[in-house]
Amino acid sequence: MSVRHGFPPIGIDAIALGVPRRFVELSELAEARGVAPSKYLTGLGTRRMAIAAPEEDPITLAANAARRLFLRSGASPADIGLCVVGTETAVDHSKPAASFLHGLLGLPSACRVFEAKHACFGGTAGLLNAVDWIASGSARGRAALVVCSDVARYALGSAGEPTQGAGAVALLVRERPRLLALEVGQTGSYARDVYDFWRPLHHKEALVDGHFSVQCYLDALAGAYGEWRRQDGDGEPLARTCYHVPYGKMARKAHRHRRMIDGLTEQAADESFAVEVEPSLDLPARIGNIYTGSLYLALASLLSAQARDLEGKRIGLFSYGSGSCAEFFAGRVVPEAGALVAALEIDAPLAECHHTPVAEYEALRRNDEAADRRPAPEDAERGGASLDRRAVYLGLDSSERRVYANA
Ligand code: CAA
Repeated sequence: MSVRHGFPPIGIDAIALGVPRRFVELSELAEARGVAPSKYLTGLGTRRMAIAAPEEDPITLAANAARRLFLRSGASPADIGLCVVGTETAVDHSKPAASFLHGLLGLPSACRVFEAKHACFGGTAGLLNAVDWIASGSARGRAALVVCSDVARYALGSAGEPTQGAGAVALLVRERPRLLALEVGQTGSYARDVYDFWRPLHHKEALVDGHFSVQCYLDALAGAYGEWRRQDGDGEPLARTCYHVPYGKMARKAHRHRRMIDGLTEQAADESFAVEVEPSLDLPARIGNIYTGSLYLALASLLSAQARDLEGKRIGLFSYGSGSCAEFFAGRVVPEAGALVAALEIDAPLAECHHTPVAEYEALRRNDEAADRRPAPEDAERGGASLDRRAVYLGLDSSERRVYANA
């Protein structure tokens, strides 16, 4: 329930995914690393990780998710007055991902565009900013496009390797949303300066203090949830909760932690997991960690599985960004959301993905740096907006500008 009485609801109107064309089976990665497959499949709760090829990067994934959002939802780029891209794997230290998107999608010139960075929290920063932009009246009837896009990379052979992934989630945010009405003005925030996960400017692969990062996530959840509960008082219980999902087991640990804060025993907290959380973990298990988009991939998974049953129900959302900042907030699934979710065919892009052997994935990673330096063909056509064709990265021109095309 929105806490802004007398105003139209604001929230997520449509959702779409962009995924790379390749994935690695984690049972095969475990064998290649000499690890028991059950460690990755059960211990971490992961199944596959999506892998980006040289022509795929956070910009192409974002553009392809957004393009699909427009095609499936009936919205038009002309409706957009704010475009935010949340990413922690930006392609340029200055030029924002949102500017590339502006060109590739043909967004209006009367549009605010920017990139939001705060580890995995950047997408939520974008979403909550978009909600405030609408609530303030600045939108003047226009919608916001919020895209969370990342390519998650850890070193080959590291403990983090099986928790990689790549992909984008595009969200259309507007008044009178057709999927999820957010409770505007009621969020629990938590921040703490910690070094749990970081990526120095010259690194392509993230560095992480893995076990410490798990504890930081749980501490942030307790802080943000406690703050949200203080505002919610005796509010209606949450039918489902979506968490940031770096790997499935983390959501399981988070849920136990949160429900024990509610006063449940450990056993009762674990028993509630199957109903309250499990339906949100299918897409994350098939794609892996997509950093900024992971919470919204969990939401997409939940809605794909149960939107019709959840119409009118209240669901919780927990976002965590290392470094750190976290937010707990809630929303209500809109009546008729089930029919829209069926029309959106959220998981359809996964049907175009194909299995990649571990040796091919390793070769792609070893060529990563070369892929970054590859020159764009002389006759490459820069930019050009299109909703009908897939965005691809062609390479750098002689001034080190990235060249994209809708191919
Ligand atoms: N069969 C079944 N389970 C097994 C097993 C086997 N053969 N072997 C081990 N396990 C279990 C372990 O018991 C453990 O379970 P619990 O967590 O329930 O105790 C689980 O598998 C993992 O085992 P380890 O702790 O030994 O794993 P690890 O030390 O190799 O690495 C990790 C785990 C630290 C999470 C590592 O994958 C990592 O660093 N990942 C990246 C960081 C990350 O995702 N952090 C999450 C919080 S930060 C965040 O959320 C932001 C973000 O997106 C990065």
